[in-house]
Amino acid sequence: MIEPADSESIRRAAELLKAGGMVAIPTETVYGLAADASNPEAVARIFTTKGRPADHPLIVHIESAVQLDDWATDVPNGARQLADAFWPGPLTLILKRRDSVLDAVTGGMDTVAIRVPSHPVTQEILSAFGGGLAAPSANRFGRVSPTTAENVESDLGSDVDLIIDGGPCDIGLESTIVAWVQGQQTVLRPGAISADAIARVLGCDVTTSTGATVRAPGMLDSHYAPSTMLELCSADSIQQRAAALAADGLQVGVLSLEPVAVIGAKVAWHSHGDIDLCARSLYGHLRQADNEGLDVLLVSLPPETGLGVAVADRLRRAAHRGGPKARRQADQ
Ligand code: TXA
Ligand code: MG
Repeated sequence: MIEPADSESIRRAAELLKAGGMVAIPTETVYGLAADASNPEAVARIFTTKGRPADHPLIVHIESAVQLDDWATDVPNGARQLADAFWPGPLTLILKRRDSVLDAVTGGMDTVAIRVPSHPVTQEILSAFGGGLAAPSANRFGRVSPTTAENVESDLGSDVDLIIDGGPCDIGLESTIVAWVQGQQTVLRPGAISADAIARVLGCDVTTSTGATVRAPGMLDSHYAPSTMLELCSADSIQQRAAALAADGLQVGVLSLEPVAVIGAKVAWHSHGDIDLCARSLYGHLRQADNEGLDVLLVSLPPETGLGVAVADRLRRAAHRGGPKARRQADQ
């Protein structure tokens, strides 16, 4: 059940987590489904609840960079510089794991993902809990990440012991993931901290990888998909495409950064040209598309600079093969 974040619910969350329970926690990126990262049964429950394959590793959330060496070893200098610059915040570092880290958390890999979230409620939970919290996004496997406590409840319901409501997530997209591949810093998942911002701190180039060289199973092309079919469209062609689909009797939605005039669409969402708002509201709109019973959501990608890179990345993945509903129809 959902409880508003206050000192009592935060204390209860920490107690539940110490006892091996599972608590949905607010972060600045998306809501996480948290359990004690040192408790194999608690971690196993995350996988069962999400329906997530066992070889998909989890991020360990810690209170501050001081705890980094409890989980990771041989930490490159660059990683410490990034931790100094961006933690607490939406940055996950992939580092060599300590032997003590559970295989269930790392998916059996020799690396571990670490992040210090900045959301004040989760900072308090981490402080009261005292250890590391393994927490994937609090959605069923392959679905859109939750950005409100209500989203978590509608996805996971009573399968989670407690949902702490810390309000809507500020950023709305998952953290930037950085790994060191053959000594070279590489962005595995774009997020609110851009490759440029990382390059500025490190004073050198940063590669962006599609996940081909490093196993990052969350980067499956079909991730982040609503049931509604998504179709990417250029801003110029969106009006014509919406009219044509609507004329075929389809329920059409339009999602864009800037407002566009469309005829025949059931809904048209935009973010007044504000990329922060676009990211923050993106997953909510994808959920709304399902709730509205749309057949197609036409999407124009934002310019791919700064946060636009991460928004475009999630939209491309959501559009991949048209989402589960389209795939189901194609299978029939
Ligand atoms: O913003 C976030 O990162 C949110 C909040 C809750 O912190 N968490 C999140 O977790 O997005 P999840 O499990 O949905 O995505 C974690 C990603 C996956 O793509 C996973 O494959 C990757 O991190 N990952 C975890 N450990 C890894 C490792 N050792 N090497 C490479 N990728 C790893
Ligand atoms: Mg996820």
